Amino acid sequence: MKTESLQTHLVDYDLERYPLPEIVRWQFGVDELDEIHTSADYPLLTRENDQKTVFHERFYVIGDEFFDTYHRLLVEVVQPLFGENLIYQRVPTFRVHLPGNVAVGEMHRDRDYSHGQGEVNLWLPFTRAWDTNTVWIESSEGSNDVRPYACDVGQMLMFDGVNLLHGNVKNETGKTRVSVDFRVIPESQYVAREAATINTKLSFTVGGYFADLAAG
Ligand SMILES: [Fe+2]
Repeated sequence: MKTESLQTHLVDYDLERYPLPEIVRWQFGVDELDEIHTSADYPLLTRENDQKTVFHERFYVIGDEFFDTYHRLLVEVVQPLFGENLIYQRVPTFRVHLPGNVAVGEMHRDRDYSHGQGEVNLWLPFTRAWDTNTVWIESSEGSNDVRPYACDVGQMLMFDGVNLLHGNVKNETGKTRVSVDFRVIPESQYVAREAATINTKLSFTVGGYFADLAAG
């Protein structure tokens, strides 16, 4: 797959084999993830605090079952799409899009936050995502025509988040969207970079923000 000409598209995965939404639902101890807004209320989130809700605290202590399943999904579903080993984001980034709120503080291109060329974004919702509770992405670099991409549970969206403008709008659906996003780099395009992420301050290196899929 040539990442420089990547078109935004959906990738299906098997929910029985990779029950990530169920594992996340157990972690939150709820019947319906899209109703978790009933347990906490937040003013409009910003770039500075969009990773700092009580829901983020709960997600980031999730156990091995999630990470083992995530790793299997990468090995068995994502890596075959590229045909070579991948460098991948070790801990996916959690997002919660509450009704009347946003999940990320601003429309952006990931390169604005020091992400490097060669990264491919995968966006995986644990709740049905559509209209104002999903991710909005421009159709081609610089077109500025962001529009929503509907994505079902059991699907993930692959897109060039480094170069395409993306973000979200205020959620008017009445349902919370919960998702993770993560980046992979074909090993042949990976270059270790000392730049660090804006939130976790990890460098974009294997052993920092990234891990080597072939290393197990
Ligand atoms: Fe992004």
